[in-house]
Amino acid sequence: MHSFQLLGLAALGSLISAAPAPTRVSDLTKKSSSCTFTDASKASSSVSSCSSIILKDIAVPAGKTLDLSKVEDGTTITFEGTTTFGYKEWKGPLIRFAGKDITITQAEGAVIDGDGSRWWDTKGTNGGKTKPKFMYAHKLEDSTIKGLSIKNTPVQAISVQATNLYLTDITIDNSDGDDSGGHNTDGFDISESTGVYIRGAMVKNQDDCLAINSGENIEFSGGTCSGGHGLSIGSIGGRDNNTVKNVTISDSTVTNSANGIRIKTIVDETGSVSDVTYSNIELSKISDYGIVIEQDYKNGGPTGEPSTGIPITDVTIDGVTGSVDDDADRVYILCGDGSCSDWSFSGVDISGGESSDDCENVPEGASC
Ligand SMILES: *[C@@H]1O[C@H](CO)[C@@H](O)[C@H](O)[C@H]1NC(C)=O
Ligand SMILES: *[C@@H]1O[C@H](CO)[C@@H](O)[C@H](O)[C@H]1NC(C)=O
Repeated sequence: MHSFQLLGLAALGSLISAAPAPTRVSDLTKKSSSCTFTDASKASSSVSSCSSIILKDIAVPAGKTLDLSKVEDGTTITFEGTTTFGYKEWKGPLIRFAGKDITITQAEGAVIDGDGSRWWDTKGTNGGKTKPKFMYAHKLEDSTIKGLSIKNTPVQAISVQATNLYLTDITIDNSDGDDSGGHNTDGFDISESTGVYIRGAMVKNQDDCLAINSGENIEFSGGTCSGGHGLSIGSIGGRDNNTVKNVTISDSTVTNSANGIRIKTIVDETGSVSDVTYSNIELSKISDYGIVIEQDYKNGGPTGEPSTGIPITDVTIDGVTGSVDDDADRVYILCGDGSCSDWSFSGVDISGGESSDDCENVPEGASC
């Protein structure tokens, strides 16, 4: 790729249409196969010959995706300085990754700043301005995203649809949205994935810290969640895939949040949730529920009428401690008749709050 004279004319033509040579010469510093970009459009179109990509102080134009989905297998991508995005009402994503054996990381002190306040209007994805999704980690395989510092996403932060993806020591700080209309700013949304390992995450936001909608072999450990809706599985149902299997969520804290841990399924849909373990989770300042598992969602909210089409089986809760607010429920379980089974609760020691009067069909092994 580095010696154009070795290519036939036809090959050169196709190369040029994929990645215009003149812009490459003027806009990136090329050291062997390490490329430094300072311009988002060049980074999105000229990456295919770089095995190491540095994205330095990139200002992504309004309405454009910083598209790193066409990189070579084995590429390392490093963010440096501050990455910013122009303002437009659109669906996004602002950043997209894909590929195999990809490593995505950042230099010390770097930040990817969504400046979400330009979109925040308290309505999130339910109305108001159209807000861009932040990052798609879709079609990533055997890859790692490590140490990124993300700030103020317009709505949902990281959407994962991947195979064997490690998300290590990622910070998502949307705390500026607490008082200025941030909404639906989920930390990690996972679907259609096999093997996702989220370790050491720090999330400050206004919706789920973690939301798993489908997938298997998923780990979330050593995380800190604050400001949002807690560590969630669901809502399950009504998507392309509605199977959640083998999830372990451990050694994490949830504070200043609506819920601690939560599983929710949608009524009159089909699917399954199985083999889920929550262990060593510490709660504080929880306003609604310490532990909530319910099979009664419809149109984004609970109905109080559970159905049985999405069984929740083999749930282990081993060590959920700490406290909830005075008017919160410590535990709330609302299952359909026979659709929750093989649960085991131990070490559930939550102080404050109330016990719920509204639990239904609580399976053996659990208590409400
Ligand atoms: C849904 O995902 C599960 C678990 O990841 C997988 O076993 C199953 O084949 C998928 N089903 C469909 C219909 O894609
Ligand atoms: C369950 O998922 C974990 C990753 O969290 C994986 O290591 C383990 O092998 C999986 N177990 C099964 C039975 O697939």
